[in-house]
Amino acid sequence: MNVFFRIGDKFSDKLYCPRLIHFTYIHTYIYIYINIVLQALTLQTVSSLIKKEKSGPSIMLKNYIAKQVTSDELRTLITCSGRFVLHSVSKDPYDNLALEDYLFRHTPLPESTSATSVKNNRLFLYINNPCCVIGRNQLLWREVNVSRAIAQGIPLVRRLSGGGAVVHDWGNINYAHVTTRDGFTRTEFTTKLVRWLVERDPTTLYSRLQATDRGDITLDGTHKLGGSAFKIGARGRAYHHGTLLVDSQLDQIKGLLQSSQGIPGVTWTGSGVDSVRAHVTNLPGSHSVTSIWETITMGFQRDFAGSANNHVPPNSSSHISQHVPVYSCNASKLQIAEVQETAQKLRSADWVHGGGPPFSVHFGPPQTMPERNVAVRHGIICATDIVGLALGTPFAEFCRTSRAVHGLGVDSL
Ligand SMILES: *[C@@H]1O[C@H](CO)[C@@H](O)[C@H](O)[C@H]1NC(C)=O
Ligand SMILES: *[C@@H]1O[C@H](CO)[C@@H](O)[C@H](O)[C@H]1NC(C)=O
Ligand SMILES: *[C@@H]1O[C@H](CO)[C@@H](O)[C@H](O)[C@H]1NC(C)=O
Repeated sequence: MNVFFRIGDKFSDKLYCPRLIHFTYIHTYIYIYINIVLQALTLQTVSSLIKKEKSGPSIMLKNYIAKQVTSDELRTLITCSGRFVLHSVSKDPYDNLALEDYLFRHTPLPESTSATSVKNNRLFLYINNPCCVIGRNQLLWREVNVSRAIAQGIPLVRRLSGGGAVVHDWGNINYAHVTTRDGFTRTEFTTKLVRWLVERDPTTLYSRLQATDRGDITLDGTHKLGGSAFKIGARGRAYHHGTLLVDSQLDQIKGLLQSSQGIPGVTWTGSGVDSVRAHVTNLPGSHSVTSIWETITMGFQRDFAGSANNHVPPNSSSHISQHVPVYSCNASKLQIAEVQETAQKLRSADWVHGGGPPFSVHFGPPQTMPERNVAVRHGIICATDIVGLALGTPFAEFCRTSRAVHGLGVDSL
């Protein structure tokens, strides 16, 4: 506002005092310039603070440009043949997982199944806001300290793929490698990822990083840097997605996942998948999330370009180019109905609390004496010997009130 008033002043000066015009203009411009610089600086400081505190790091790419695509362009890209890297700027875990699923479902299969046919390898990269993520076949309460997560405002997410529980934050990079079922191995992607990381920083990482048979990445064979989950589709597609801890708040992570001893006096039974517990650690050395993000992107571009290791016949009629382009989108803004529907499903209590196989819980001392049992199907209590606990009560609700209403030894599960 100030700036505009000044301009007006000087213009009226000009009318009365022509000799001063030149001098006045210089003053005006300097004034405007200083104001603009000051405002820009203030805005930048404020916005970087907000970014740090509210939305996590933004990835500022230095070495290449990621072309922003619209929903329509993205739909076309995904459903046509071709290899590419896709970045999501959204940090919403449900939206990112929904887009990942869409990418998995709509990546076309190669036209022929011969050894030389073209595979449509795609890499999707994203960072989530802090959240707890469990595998689709897990018992939420056995894996996560749900009451703590709720108290800290940390969303609970059930993946569409199998595997164990993990905590994400802004120091963690999520990747998904979408490819074909044919020739898929659990170690292909992590083996490459380890090589890209070691090539980047051999002094710190050479011979310390390993890709394990389960698709994990370990440091010195003792600590885990990243875990993996897989989805092998019935219709010929497969994906491998995983996490890479670069600069995570590891203390937070520990408190949100249940320890292997679990809760004293509480025994879970059912076919739910147990997480394999491991000591976790960040990537050693001083690496920013952005720079590792770039390393992964460029490694993928290199290894999956037209010539190397990608089954593109030398004389291919396919349209796959030698170059692997990089695109970016905001998974939370897409106007793609299927992505929106999946995100809505992933957010629903039916899926988060009610997903996974049926289970039962046994409460013994120090929780309660005599012992008590609760059986749960689709997140709803279907049998119990706890007096006054109605069948049909959501298990989540029972957990919130376990001490207050049912006299168990824990406030909440
Ligand atoms: C879960 O978190 C709550 C709240 O922070 C805490 O009181 C409780 O002891 C935790 N439960 C377990 C089993 O660690
Ligand atoms: C591709 O192969 C066909 C026959 O196999 C040949 O006639 C054609 O010239 C080749 N094209 C190129 C670009 O090499
Ligand atoms: C992505 O879209 C969401 C929803 O419109 C918005 O809140 C968020 O700020 C966007 N993220 C970026 C980095 O533009």
